[in-house]
Amino acid sequence: MSADPPRFPFCASAALAEGRHLKLKMMFEAREEECLLIRFHGQCYAYINRCVHMPRPLDCEQDLVFDPTGLYLRCSMHGIVYTPETGVSVSALCEGERLRAVSAYEENGEVGIADWRVSAILSAA
Ligand code: FES
Repeated sequence: MSADPPRFPFCASAALAEGRHLKLKMMFEAREEECLLIRFHGQCYAYINRCVHMPRPLDCEQDLVFDPTGLYLRCSMHGIVYTPETGVSVSALCEGERLRAVSAYEENGEVGIADWRVSAILSAA
């Protein structure tokens, strides 16, 4: 087994703009899951798209995952906000709980997923 997880390229770096998100479907721990790929302060992060409060996607009510300040991720159902770098809830509701992080990479103008728990990217979502 190699020391590095397998890489699953998803898009060109330019397709993931600052403060924006893209969604993809992937096989994660042998289940199909939706993943949020975000860019914040230049870095790419990825999270399973499921709120810690209830099993809803963060964009279940609105097609947005960043709050109006652009500084936090926000679930559109009841408004829990998360730090984009860690996925930790900073709301009183579910304070300290965190989104499930997935390892993303960016290299040579390409963004993708590189995580041992992922076996395939299925599609854009
Ligand atoms: S389901 Fe996300 S805040 Fe309640």
